[in-house]
Amino acid sequence: MANKTVLFKIKRQTTPTSEPFWEEFEIDYRAGLNVISLFMEVALKPLTRDGKATTPVNYDSNCLEEVCGSCAMLINGRARMACSALVDNLEQPITIEPFSKFPVVRDLQVDRSVLFENLKTVKAWVPVDGTYSLGDGPRQLPQVQEQAYQLSQCMSCCCCMESCPQFNESTGFVGAATIAQARLFNMHPTGKVLKEERLAALMGDGGIQECGYAQNCVEACPKEIPLTKSISDVGGDVMKKAVLDFFRL
Ligand code: SF4
Ligand code: SF4
Ligand code: FES
Repeated sequence: MANKTVLFKIKRQTTPTSEPFWEEFEIDYRAGLNVISLFMEVALKPLTRDGKATTPVNYDSNCLEEVCGSCAMLINGRARMACSALVDNLEQPITIEPFSKFPVVRDLQVDRSVLFENLKTVKAWVPVDGTYSLGDGPRQLPQVQEQAYQLSQCMSCCCCMESCPQFNESTGFVGAATIAQARLFNMHPTGKVLKEERLAALMGDGGIQECGYAQNCVEACPKEIPLTKSISDVGGDVMKKAVLDFFRL
């Protein structure tokens, strides 16, 4: 009886501007393989399915336990983390592609710095200057802590943005992760000092109004962050601010 194998295809690209191409691989099956281990097998023996010599696959990864957010890619068409995608649960041939909405650096590695730029626009941090000890922080209600903890698990993987129909060049939409982080820091007893600035950054073009509430983001988020709840909460705050600003004029 022939050995059980794993069949997979990888969309590769040598440089940010070169044409992408597909390579097909077949390796011996082992129990417990995940998608990252497929890349490791290719690195050990860089031969395509038809025996052509190739190069190891370029990809980002770090924690290998769905915490760092670096190994996000399209696996069988779905935005997800390669380290938690188990071969046993995937239909074959497994198709593996880089995210489609972010510039490719090489192979499966993409440039997701747009998220960090968006986080900067909403000042997604607690402002402290670090020059002297502030002592203990203000107390937070356990109910608030629980909500904040959920939001703080965002690992900047960008699966929500890749899956969002509104996240594209024509809208310039900041995406669900940025809105959820604005909510997190607006909830913080010290962080909320910047609430008005965060809401102002989410008004207008590319802001929260671009969201069409398709809810793809919440389904795609590997950390199950309540993205649609965050969008509706922050949307309500933005609306209140718009009305108040109007009457302040
Ligand atoms: S609800 Fe829909 S449009 Fe809004 S951020 Fe999520 S996926 Fe995008
Ligand atoms: S909200 Fe979820 S899907 Fe979006 S970047 Fe954070 S962890 Fe990833
Ligand atoms: S390697 Fe860290 S999330 Fe996959």
